[in-house]
Amino acid sequence: MHVTVLLHEAVDALALERGGVYVDGTFGRGGHSREVLARLNTAGRLIALDRDPLAIEAGQAIKDPRFTLIHAPFSELGTVLDQLGIGGIDGVLLDLGVSSPQFDDASRGMSFRFDAPLDMRMDTSRGQTAAQWLAEASVSQITEVLKDYGEERFAYAIAKAVATARTGGAIATTGQLAALVEKTVRTREPGQHPATRSFQALRIFVNQELEELKRVLPICAERLREGGRLVVISFHSLEDRIVKRFMRDESTPPRLPSRLPIKAADIPSPRLALVGRAQRPCAAEVAANPRARSAVMRVAERRGGRGKQGGAARFDVLLITMLILLAAASALGIVSAQNEARKLYAALEHEQARTESLDKELQRLQIEQEHLSALDRVENIARHRLGMVLPEPGQIIALEKRP
Ligand SMILES: C[S@@+](CC[C@H](N)C(=O)[O-])C[C@H]1O[C@@H](n2cnc3c(N)ncnc32)[C@H](O)[C@@H]1O
Repeated sequence: MHVTVLLHEAVDALALERGGVYVDGTFGRGGHSREVLARLNTAGRLIALDRDPLAIEAGQAIKDPRFTLIHAPFSELGTVLDQLGIGGIDGVLLDLGVSSPQFDDASRGMSFRFDAPLDMRMDTSRGQTAAQWLAEASVSQITEVLKDYGEERFAYAIAKAVATARTGGAIATTGQLAALVEKTVRTREPGQHPATRSFQALRIFVNQELEELKRVLPICAERLREGGRLVVISFHSLEDRIVKRFMRDESTPPRLPSRLPIKAADIPSPRLALVGRAQRPCAAEVAANPRARSAVMRVAERRGGRGKQGGAARFDVLLITMLILLAAASALGIVSAQNEARKLYAALEHEQARTESLDKELQRLQIEQEHLSALDRVENIARHRLGMVLPEPGQIIALEKRP
């Protein structure tokens, strides 16, 4: 049996409109779904998804024309809504992780408490089992999975032990894997089986749980109508970190360079607004259902006004305008560079003309100098060869003009 965690708190957080369209992305055994249906009127609608065929089978018990149950991973929510002809929705609930039936049914291979085939898939109709993956993964791939999804300190030692053990035959059961980890891990955390982290890591990896979550969150934000709520319950820090960061990023205005010439009104407002703080189950709930002890619920609301369409579209226009301005500025830069080159060329021509005229002046002076030195020569010949003398200062010489 599955005891729903934060049942009323999560459905309250959806702030339901009685005739709205809602999505339960993790139907499980339908605890939250039934409560949502109970609060909707006849115009309301609930679309529920689960990747586990047994959850879908269990959901057939709900006979309600307002209810549609689909066997699909929630990362395919967009396609599912498109196929149903649904555009916008008024709220989404994701109650992550595994359900108690999945964990407690030995044949699912998710727990080291029972010896069973090492399967671990939520969707038993597709994908690789944990045993199949362990049979062919490299030591470094196993180490990475155990570290990343289980934060396992002895990841490498366990991976090596797996590689050694499988040479003598496949690790096919939960019992084999649990025993191998128990033998390899030297210290234990109090109250925890040494294989707890390895089993969690393999389950998260086999079901691609974190990737599924990263894919569905933007789809939810996209599909929510103004005022619609996104409610997510996580059960470990890896999931909660993704949810927390997504909600924080989607509720924070973009950081633009301070000197960007944009009016405050043109800065796009974020798509989501945070609703309250992270909420945990009360002590009474944890006492009644120990599975609830690690649950954290976060809620965000789709903003209106210039949310996705208005703000983003205006922002796009702004970006395009800035790009055009940048292109124009660089074109202007080219023109001014051309002008500069023209000026330099003119200055060069001017200098060349000046050099030419100086050359001519030099030639003229050289000719004059030659001419003067020629006068010297005439004087020399007159003095020394013809015996002529220069007149004394004040002496008058009469020159006779011959016919
Ligand atoms: C914690 S249970 C949900 C319990 C449910 N809220 C209830 O009250 O019964 C999580 C369920 O989500 C399903 N699930 C987990 N990841 C999923 C995914 N990526 N897509 C669809 N279903 C998923 C699991 O198969 C499981 O049935």
